[in-house]
Amino acid sequence: MGKFIIGVLIGIIILPMGAYLYLQSGYAPVATSAPPMPFERFLAKTALHAALRREAPKTHTTTGSPALLAEGAEVFTHNCAVCHGLPGQPPTAIAKGEFPPPPQLFTQRGMVTDDPVGVTYWKVKHGIRLTGMPGFDPSLTDEQIWAVSLLMRNADHLTPALQAILSPQPPSPPQAVQTKKAAPKRK
Ligand code: HEC
Repeated sequence: MGKFIIGVLIGIIILPMGAYLYLQSGYAPVATSAPPMPFERFLAKTALHAALRREAPKTHTTTGSPALLAEGAEVFTHNCAVCHGLPGQPPTAIAKGEFPPPPQLFTQRGMVTDDPVGVTYWKVKHGIRLTGMPGFDPSLTDEQIWAVSLLMRNADHLTPALQAILSPQPPSPPQAVQTKKAAPKRK
């Protein structure tokens, strides 16, 4: 019994000490280009999924009127394209430098057409901590958030009218004009 308690005490002391020393060591990843920390993805995803299960509105709407989707496309070009890209366009300089990388929401790999609209709505409204995904509650109306969420749901069959709104036009999201090689090398 005595040994058991000593074991537990050592466990209680050693684990946080190990974690502290790891963070202090300078080897823990902090750069956006570094690989995820141990358990980082697990912790982030578990907490996010639990919150979504609890809070995301369970709506069954999957389609919107052409006018609402057009509004969503306007919202997207002004607020999201800089990170999530436009159809047929390469990722922007900002998107390339973020960690975790923002999914390119009009590509086959990145689109969230299978997610319930309520889940996307929750993510857009509240954002996702520690990822760079902003919450738009302070800056977009509820209708705008639904509109852009419905657009995400329908990202795989855009009408020509929506494609026109979503095509790059000035002011377009910043592109990587200066290539990486042109920048002075730092180590
Ligand atoms: C500053 C960059 C940035 C902007 C601007 C931004 N996002 Fe994001 N977004 C992210 C990142 C990074 C993630 C990835 C989070 C993760 O890995 O969990 C993300 C995740 C998402 C997801 C979840 C994708 C998935 O696969 O589950 C959706 C949906 C989304 N964003 C929609 C939007 C919409 C709509 C807007 C505009 C209203 C927007 N985002 C604006 C960076 C951004």
